[in-house]
Amino acid sequence: MSAVPNAQPRIEPMRMRDIDAVVGIERNAYSFPWTRLNFSDSLASGYSAWACRSGGELVAYAVMMLVLDEAHLLNVTVAPDWQRRGCGMLMMHHLFSTARAHGAKRMFLEVRPSNESGIALYRRCGFERIGLRRAYYPASPGREDAVVMAVDL
Ligand SMILES: CC(C)(COP(=O)(O)OP(=O)(O)OC[C@H]1O[C@@H](n2cnc3c(N)ncnc32)[C@H](O)[C@@H]1OP(=O)(O)O)[C@@H](O)C(=O)NCCC(=O)NCCS
Repeated sequence: MSAVPNAQPRIEPMRMRDIDAVVGIERNAYSFPWTRLNFSDSLASGYSAWACRSGGELVAYAVMMLVLDEAHLLNVTVAPDWQRRGCGMLMMHHLFSTARAHGAKRMFLEVRPSNESGIALYRRCGFERIGLRRAYYPASPGREDAVVMAVDL
């Protein structure tokens, strides 16, 4: 379905019934996508998982793990047709306020150094690079490092 220009995106908890749409976007957005099981396990584990809809269409989603005073952002993705329209930033603000409400003081994430749009979004949200995990991600060929980023909440 194509983008609906006037439908204001809104964010709701991700549910099992959203997973087909989520996996469809995930496969378009990544060379090494999360599997259906990754998402269903996240929901079953009680992770903080969110779906953003516009006019009924699922356009973005995110999964975050909240542990004590730390939040770990595991996945934030916007459907390719909806990128650069503010949904990523909307989701990040939602994640920040959710994490703060749970008492988190800091948010962490890993990102591929080759992911320019992800890194640009995170920098825009105040994240700073705090480390590097060598050969963290599958890549073709071989493995790719992960940049570790964090922001105070
Ligand atoms: C990264 C991603 C979530 C950004 O979502 P988005 O909805 O396109 O981002 P927004 O429109 O809210 O952009 C917010 C800001 O992020 C930065 N940004 C986002 N995409 C960018 C790009 N392709 N190039 C440069 N900067 C970018 C900009 O600063 C932008 O502000 P601006 O549009 O005013 O310049 C989206 O590109 C995506 O889903 N990519 C594929 C999945 C992915 O890589 N997720 C991150 C995994 S770690």
